[in-house]
Amino acid sequence: MSSNLLIDSANKIKSCAESSNQPCILNSLMKRMTIEEKMGQMSQFFGHGEHISEQLAESIRQGRVGSVLNEVRLDIVNELQRLAVEESRLGIPLLIGRDVIHGFNTIFPIPLGQAASWCTATVKQCAHISALEAATSGVNWTFAPMIDISRDPRWGRIAESLGEDPYLCSVLGVAMLQGFQGDDLQKNGSIAACAKHFAGYGAAESGRDYSTTNIPENELRNVYLPPFKAAADAGVATFMSAFSDLNGVPASGNKWLMTDILREEWDYQGFVVSDWESVVQLTTHGFSEDNKDAAYEAANAGIDMEMVSTTYLDHLPDLLAEGRVNIKQVNYAVTKILQLKWQLGLFDSPYTDANLLPKPLNSEHLQVAKEAAIKSCVLLKNANNILPLSAESLSSVAIIGPLADDPYEQLGTWIFDGDSKHSQTCLTAIKQLLSAQVSIDHVKAMETSRSHDQTGFKQAVESAIAADVAVLILGEESILSGEAHCRAEINLPGCQEQLIDAIAQTGTPIVLVIMAGRPLTIEAILPKVDAVLFAWHPGTMAGPAIADLLFGKASPSGKLPVTFPRKVGQVPIYYGQKHSGKPATEATFVHMDDIPVRSPQTSLGMAATHLDTHFSPLFPFGFGLSYTQFSYQDLELNNKTIHLGETLKIRVMLTNTGDADGEEIVQLYIRDLVGSVTRPVKELKDFKRVKLAAGQSEWVSFDLSTDKLAFYDRNMQLKTEPGQFHLWLGGCSQTGLRHEFEIINE
Ligand code: NOJ
Repeated sequence: MSSNLLIDSANKIKSCAESSNQPCILNSLMKRMTIEEKMGQMSQFFGHGEHISEQLAESIRQGRVGSVLNEVRLDIVNELQRLAVEESRLGIPLLIGRDVIHGFNTIFPIPLGQAASWCTATVKQCAHISALEAATSGVNWTFAPMIDISRDPRWGRIAESLGEDPYLCSVLGVAMLQGFQGDDLQKNGSIAACAKHFAGYGAAESGRDYSTTNIPENELRNVYLPPFKAAADAGVATFMSAFSDLNGVPASGNKWLMTDILREEWDYQGFVVSDWESVVQLTTHGFSEDNKDAAYEAANAGIDMEMVSTTYLDHLPDLLAEGRVNIKQVNYAVTKILQLKWQLGLFDSPYTDANLLPKPLNSEHLQVAKEAAIKSCVLLKNANNILPLSAESLSSVAIIGPLADDPYEQLGTWIFDGDSKHSQTCLTAIKQLLSAQVSIDHVKAMETSRSHDQTGFKQAVESAIAADVAVLILGEESILSGEAHCRAEINLPGCQEQLIDAIAQTGTPIVLVIMAGRPLTIEAILPKVDAVLFAWHPGTMAGPAIADLLFGKASPSGKLPVTFPRKVGQVPIYYGQKHSGKPATEATFVHMDDIPVRSPQTSLGMAATHLDTHFSPLFPFGFGLSYTQFSYQDLELNNKTIHLGETLKIRVMLTNTGDADGEEIVQLYIRDLVGSVTRPVKELKDFKRVKLAAGQSEWVSFDLSTDKLAFYDRNMQLKTEPGQFHLWLGGCSQTGLRHEFEIINE
């Protein structure tokens, strides 16, 4: 094409864009696009980091690329945009995608940690800053939030999730996407979000990534889909299909999910991108015969853009010519993709000027990262109120463990653009916080969290003996969680449990800080330590956050977004289980150690439990201690009977009865006692983070509309069924004041 024609084409787009008439430019583009250019818009390629390959450049010039992912060098990204805007026939700018999962340069706590904050404002702010920082590199699309319900801590991707509960995950997922997208995608620093992985990916068999999922439709609709519906309703720009096979139909070829539910039932207006090569993988699944068949299945299912593999480019033109794919399907996909580019303002300004955005890693961003890490930590044990430690009365502290001073491992999974040189570790932060009078001895004891070499134990023991308190900073390295990083055992890896044993024998009090990407089975070590602070992977500001918590400059307020099993064999274990016909009770529970030898089987409880561990979890969903205590009193409902469509008004008097200020997460659960399909024993329906000074009391109120009690019934209809309900308000899924109410149908 001659350069005049190029300029002409770009000008046409520009003048159309200036008229702010969206249909005008998009319609005109749609009319002028060739089939190959349409396939191009539906294709995403990966960048090469330090340079633009001639092949990618040429593909962009030919209009065969709609989006590039994993390219974050601003000069290169701007050059990619220039190639698209100035050297392709139609001058359509690119979507630049990146996994901005829990931060860009400033790394916030892993999503599971952020979920432990139960704080929508925090989650939103972390995403907003991540978007601002990513935008400085020209990124305009992130593949987050990941809103797969995750009830299996063996699954490495639980780290990226917002936990086990449909309500908490929905609320926090919406907060996260709003943080990324802002109130206007066109604003500098707003980026498009992506609800992933649609759907059911978290239910991978045995927690093995990419494995099959079998989820009955009723369970899918009541548990796995609500966060996606919430994201669609909140206007998430894109969806990503899961790698997994759902009930025999892989998500990337699943028309029922992508079209019947997403487009038709939910009227979703954005577009769907496949996961990385998940279209060609339809053949690996044994679902498609070959790549052409895979393109056929994916396009007809409603996958609008193909990530990395090229079956659309290679085969859609033939499939269209053969009438196996309808041009309407293609036009729909391309229109949606162009619409997002329009909404992002890319036609007007495809290039990024980083000077118009705040500098990454600025002090405000770091402060938010610190606050988020503080809110994410969950205090699991605090015997004799050993925490907070008193900086004034200590003369020596032993800081022990492989994660105490490891700037990289505290960051967690998915940190492509985070650089550990900006990390502040626990050791550094504690040294800064304590006065020079306190002697601090640091012993790594193990090379990594996975080491089996115990030669460092001797020095660690000596250090503990000499100290007033031993702060052990243990856990899992980053690499042990995340995509494809699943574990069959979820204990502290390597010889960390032996390290705890060795230190425990010294008699020096032990404060254990655990950094990990998942719940760990820590039942056996609990009695050996005095306190446990579960910090997840807290990110860049792990050190200052943990130091403030350990020494009482901040009070822990995180609550578990996921159940901690006693033993891995209990998995899946989650608070919203069904009651079953033979629920386990204390009265019927028998441990195998207590079964008389050769006794008839009838002496057992005959209930839904294991013989070799108690039926309860180690720590339930919603659990978390504070440096103060909260009491709940006077739970009041404005009515004991309400009609369908009405709203129940609920309040409870919350008092901070301790002598420290603190924040409590007040949780509202219900149980629908009888349903046309069985209902969970508890369901979270609302929560509030409440800050109270020592001694202060406050009414905490909730409005509960009967719509919030709806669920999918036997006929897959979303309905609230009249009947009896229990309601709890408390600080955890297993405690709280209880009331009852009835919904009547007149
Ligand atoms: C594969 C992962 O499953 C997905 O979550 C991610 O967004 C893409 N790769 C792109 O990196």
